[in-house]
Amino acid sequence: MIDLRSDTVTKPTEAMRRAMAAAEVGDDVYGEDPTVNLLQERSAEIFGKEAALFVASGTMGNQIAVKVQTRPGDEVIIEERCHIFNYEVGASAITAGVTIRPVRSGDGSGILTWDDIEPAISTDGIYDHTQTGLLCLENTLNLAGGRVMSAERCAELTENAHARHIPVHIDGARIFNAAVAHSTTVADMTKQSDSVQFCLSKGLGAPVGSVLVGSRDLIKEARIWRKRLGGGMRQAGILAAAGLIALEESPKRLHEDHANARVLAEGIAGIPGIAIDIETVETNIVIFDIAGTGRTAGEICDALKEKGVLASGFKSRIRMVTHLDVSRADIERTVVALDQVLTQSPTMSDNRSAAA
Ligand SMILES: Cc1ncc(COP(=O)(O)O)c(C=O)c1O
Repeated sequence: MIDLRSDTVTKPTEAMRRAMAAAEVGDDVYGEDPTVNLLQERSAEIFGKEAALFVASGTMGNQIAVKVQTRPGDEVIIEERCHIFNYEVGASAITAGVTIRPVRSGDGSGILTWDDIEPAISTDGIYDHTQTGLLCLENTLNLAGGRVMSAERCAELTENAHARHIPVHIDGARIFNAAVAHSTTVADMTKQSDSVQFCLSKGLGAPVGSVLVGSRDLIKEARIWRKRLGGGMRQAGILAAAGLIALEESPKRLHEDHANARVLAEGIAGIPGIAIDIETVETNIVIFDIAGTGRTAGEICDALKEKGVLASGFKSRIRMVTHLDVSRADIERTVVALDQVLTQSPTMSDNRSAAA
């Protein structure tokens, strides 16, 4: 199977498995796991922040960040397609007691401008809206096809938010992809932000875990919330050992995933009924519209599965994500499989004969 459903599906590499087997461990709830401590120190260093905390998942990292930077009743401003709003099963309402105020990017790209954000801010918290407590930015933006917010834009939004006394959290599940795509560092992509969550278990290929980075005080508070939420994982160095390899080694190869995504996008762009803007494929996510095929995303994904390719379908769109377990040959096979699926479609052949 060529599994393009997500970059979360990667299996740990041999090097990760060896490191996990040999990991030095201790009780991380006591702060005594040397491998977790090393992962946290390296993460803080790489992001240019004071401290870091190893957490079970991206969702846990995001939710702790929301919790420790807001008060119940606050609003959190977020782009409407973001993961925190759409895919964290309403956690912010429960854990932090906040309301999400989704905003749309004016140009539809998902990359917010200050003009998109400012009208949604409320600082008096008495009349129409409750008080804005936090701005969350997602980079890369998953549902917008892995689009990248530049370091400059991110810094500008962060400065403006800070001028209004609003802290900024970055859901950087794929921030290393963003940095590689813009030939810069993750520290540059997230400078001045108050907290960043990044996933070890997505493009970086580790089996489990995310890291939350921020100030010493923020991480101290986050540590308490991690425990409260059941995320004190004891001998978690077994997992952190794989995370360390992911952190140090995997960013070096992300450009291969980006090149594969581009080849995939170019390959499928010519298939009748598929709509995709190749220029928007900046990282490892390819989202295309299949409305013109006359078939549903579910039907196409089922047919692709028969041919050994797994993809995610939602409404009239299909998402394919490249990662370290997908080769260039797999991408070429995927293009052929999709072409076969769609050109064998009764609806497409009807359309073609009608056009002819
Ligand atoms: C942008 C983004 N943020 C956060 C997450 C959550 O990560 P996890 O699945 O580890 O909870 C995901 C997962 O797909 C994601 O795509």
